[in-house]
Amino acid sequence: PFKPLVFSGVQPTGNLHLGNYLGAIRKFVALQETNDCIYCVVDLHSLTAQLVHEDLAEQTRAITAAFLASGIDPKKHIVFNQSRVMQHAELAWIFNCVARIGWMNRMTQFKDKAGKDRENASLGLLAYPSLMAADILVYRATHVPVGDDQKQHLELTRDIAQKFNNDFSSRIAELGLGVEMQVGDETVNGYFPITEPVIGGPAARIMSLRDGSKKMSKSDPSDLSRINLTDDAETIARKIKKAKTDPEALPSEVDGLAGRPEAENLVGIYAGLAETSKQAVLKEFGGQQFSAFKTALADLAVEKLAPIAVEMRRISADRAYVDGVLRDGGERAGKLAEATMKDVRDIIGL
Ligand code: ADP
Ligand code: NA
Repeated sequence: PFKPLVFSGVQPTGNLHLGNYLGAIRKFVALQETNDCIYCVVDLHSLTAQLVHEDLAEQTRAITAAFLASGIDPKKHIVFNQSRVMQHAELAWIFNCVARIGWMNRMTQFKDKAGKDRENASLGLLAYPSLMAADILVYRATHVPVGDDQKQHLELTRDIAQKFNNDFSSRIAELGLGVEMQVGDETVNGYFPITEPVIGGPAARIMSLRDGSKKMSKSDPSDLSRINLTDDAETIARKIKKAKTDPEALPSEVDGLAGRPEAENLVGIYAGLAETSKQAVLKEFGGQQFSAFKTALADLAVEKLAPIAVEMRRISADRAYVDGVLRDGGERAGKLAEATMKDVRDIIGL
């Protein structure tokens, strides 16, 4: 079987928010205790929506500082930015030829981001999941921690791995490069692992603080909709106080959150920050009004997030250190990625 390896990425676009932190980065930190991990700032992905950025390199450093401030250890694990390792783009090209246009057209993120004028979206936006599959599979990573919104892209990564394994099964066998793995109840053989998503928990999908039907997002024009990792204590408290709620008290059972997306979101945020379940939160706060719950939530959010903001500022001030982490991580990642690409070129006959 494949040796367990964790890979994930975050785009260098805009401020990191509580959704990124609870849905992704906090999981990165937890997984590094027992796994080898590769965490990547996916700068090439950020070109799909907007080619010209004024401060791409600065944004890349900021996300890196957030990784480090949250507790990711760049000595034990690999932290780097995608564009340093050209093998990502090379494998993405191969995967563009493995994947079918129909697969890409079905992606809900593409439909959302491209909007009505689909013909005018970049070709990169359509092919985004193919690059994402390459990011993961160029390391033959087995586990990918992400928020709920990335589920569909990870299914596509599995489809691409499976099609490559099938299309080249005799070459893979001939070269002795096949690995046996368990997929559900089946034992299959292939060059690429069928990657497992690591999604779930109370905070897999954090919603906007202003609208319980939209996910918390970097691109939401309303700054009140999200808590940024760089917000100070007073700002965090103010945004939570202003968060949309309904007039009812908190229920004492999770069932009572049905049809109350804003309430469910705040309870999920509390559970995520406290590393507990929604049910446990309701056991403590059920029957209370939102005013009291919001005060407790603000205190908890400040306690958990404010130290990260302080640490981010400290790390960001040392630009040479951050650049050194990315350079060193890029060199280590590059060696692993090249070993895979050498096999892939052999398999394909390039
Ligand atoms: P964004 O979606 O904010 O533009 P990215 O696409 O770079 O950010 O996502 C980085 C990680 O954060 C991904 O694993 C994604 O699933 C996760 N994530 C983003 N938004 C949320 C959210 N609202 N709730 C939970 N996880 C999220
Ligand atoms: Na996203």
